Amino acid sequence: MTRVLRTRAELRAALARAPRPIGLVPTMGWLHGGHRALMRRARDADATTVVTIFVNPRQFDQAADFGRYPRSEARDLAICAEEEVDLVWMPPVEEVYPADFDTRVSVGALAGPLEGAARPGHFEGVATVVAILFALVGAEHAYFGQKDAQQVMVIRRMALDLALPTEVIACPTVREPDGLALSSRNFHLSPAERAAAPVLRRALLAARGRWEAGERSGEALRAAMRAVLASEPLAEGEYVSCADAETLAELERVQGPALLSLAVRFGPTRLIDNEPLPGPAG
Ligand code: PAJ
Repeated sequence: MTRVLRTRAELRAALARAPRPIGLVPTMGWLHGGHRALMRRARDADATTVVTIFVNPRQFDQAADFGRYPRSEARDLAICAEEEVDLVWMPPVEEVYPADFDTRVSVGALAGPLEGAARPGHFEGVATVVAILFALVGAEHAYFGQKDAQQVMVIRRMALDLALPTEVIACPTVREPDGLALSSRNFHLSPAERAAAPVLRRALLAARGRWEAGERSGEALRAAMRAVLASEPLAEGEYVSCADAETLAELERVQGPALLSLAVRFGPTRLIDNEPLPGPAG
């Protein structure tokens, strides 16, 4: 039985009786197969699965983006029940941020480039809400998608630095058959945009192919991604990156593990994706 909780007090009371270990899956709802995969990982490893559904206003750098984020409680709860989630915390905004709330969690260098540069304040909003969730739930494990690779890195840094006892576990990106990464934002794509959207994956795979063929110039790999994006008129590339997999600094030469990533706009809808390049031994 899936139990739905709204207040911090209800959540704490339910958790006090919950068998351990606890697995936490933080989400913003409009759940899809990517979220389901995280829930299954938790269900397999943990005695209690907790999903949180909260469209976090603090991580949206644009009010319009927050306003149009898709929401459906009934749809999300049906999915949580199907996945045999034990507890769902769906708080109103004042349960997460009471009126006198006045703390921000800000991660340094890792939160600076890529999504951090494109969306000022975004990772501060993410780190702040995830710190609250980790503190409230006290889970042994928390599951995040590799689809948001920089987010996992920022959250892992935050949890280590603040000595939060929750282990951050990254899970593989779930994709549509044509390669498009599942995302709540795909909902906004027009049919033509949806047909064009696999260009993100094609760009990443083109660069990966060049790397597999021996190309080690970061700029050549970024250019390979730009060239594929330029072939799709509906896609407006925002950034392409070939960065160090640990620091996210842009690379001139790829000598160890790296992360290819990009952000692309289709009209008002912004999609991101990434592809890790293993090191010489991987
Ligand atoms: P949301 O976008 O709802 O994503 C919740 C979790 O699902 C994140 O860890 C995300 O990386 C993962 N996810 C999304 N699409 C995925 C896919 N195609 N494959 C695998 N995992 C996927 O990310 C957030 O919410 C928020 O920033 C949050 C962490 C909840 C803080 O508000």
